[in-house]
Amino acid sequence: MRGMSGAAHKTYRSALIKALGTIDLEALAPTMRRFVNDGLSSFNRSTAEPRKHFDNYRRWSDALSTISSGMLIQLVFGAAQGSDLFDQLMDGYKELGPNGVVWNIGARQLAAYARLRGRLDEGMPRGDIPNLFSAISEEGPVDDTMLGNLIYMVETGRYDLRGLFRWIAKYGAEHPDWMRQIATADCGHRKVLAEAFVLEVLRLDQSERLMRDVLQDFAFDGFLIPKGALLRLCMWESHKDATTFGEPFVFDPGRFLNGKSYGEKFSPFGLDQHRCPLADVSIWLASTFIAELACNFDVSASGGEPAVRGPYHWEPSPDFQIALAPGKIDD
Ligand code: HEM
Repeated sequence: MRGMSGAAHKTYRSALIKALGTIDLEALAPTMRRFVNDGLSSFNRSTAEPRKHFDNYRRWSDALSTISSGMLIQLVFGAAQGSDLFDQLMDGYKELGPNGVVWNIGARQLAAYARLRGRLDEGMPRGDIPNLFSAISEEGPVDDTMLGNLIYMVETGRYDLRGLFRWIAKYGAEHPDWMRQIATADCGHRKVLAEAFVLEVLRLDQSERLMRDVLQDFAFDGFLIPKGALLRLCMWESHKDATTFGEPFVFDPGRFLNGKSYGEKFSPFGLDQHRCPLADVSIWLASTFIAELACNFDVSASGGEPAVRGPYHWEPSPDFQIALAPGKIDD
């Protein structure tokens, strides 16, 4: 969908947004919490024996990928954790993009895509679990373009979320005061604090730039931007603008509390007709992740500096090591 334009883009985007609006996310909340807790507990069990640095990094990445992929397979296709459909789709996605987001589609991706597509064609669950595929089907048949968008949306989305979860855990380990506040808040306030935490992580990391092909000459601030240029909109830099965000390199989720918003000056999900349709869903899933992490684990970490360029986003460097100790934080 990111690569579509004109009337076709509008049609498919509108159908997606309309379907999203019908999904009762609260009905999915317990399932999403379970994905987080199962993933974190399983990572924790696997850290029982001492291992090498890179091993910790790889196992942490895998655990976060399992969480984010599971969340999206459930949300988009309605496949319940533990069902055959869920396991087959998870295997298909591991085949499609085993090491992160897919950029170059080769023979392996074509085969994995055909396998995913074939499994979805066999029929989808009829049940009461809200999901995007069913919600879109209510309005009419899901055609090839929409199905392709849904399949690849899960692929890129799970990678975006995995990256965000990794930054969230790093900031969580560095800011136990915020973790304690989130863990000890009542349910309503916890949601507010967790969302502010997620937005502050997105301000500091993960959201970097938007790219645009310039289709016609235009002038901006006295400069000619010529047709044919590739334009980079620097979000990471504008999110550090001290005139908007005081002390811009200080981690302070408080700047997003009390209804404070920054309009177009804060744009981690993009700005225009391509703005991320799952922005609110992503904030909700990431808030679920930080809330479960804060409530059920003590988090400590080392390394991770300086950040390195991953296939798409900057990431903590591979010497980043994380340890989780189970147990609720006491006040
Ligand atoms: C960390 C979480 C996420 C971030 C920071 C993020 C960010 C973005 C940004 C910046 C764009 C705009 C790209 C552009 O204008 O060129 C975008 C578009 C998009 N995102 Fe996300 N995203 C996230 C998660 C997700 C997830 C979980 C999904 C779906 C499962 C998703 C689906 C999409 C789609 C379909 C578009 C294209 C919309 C269009 O072109 O009309 N995103 N996202």
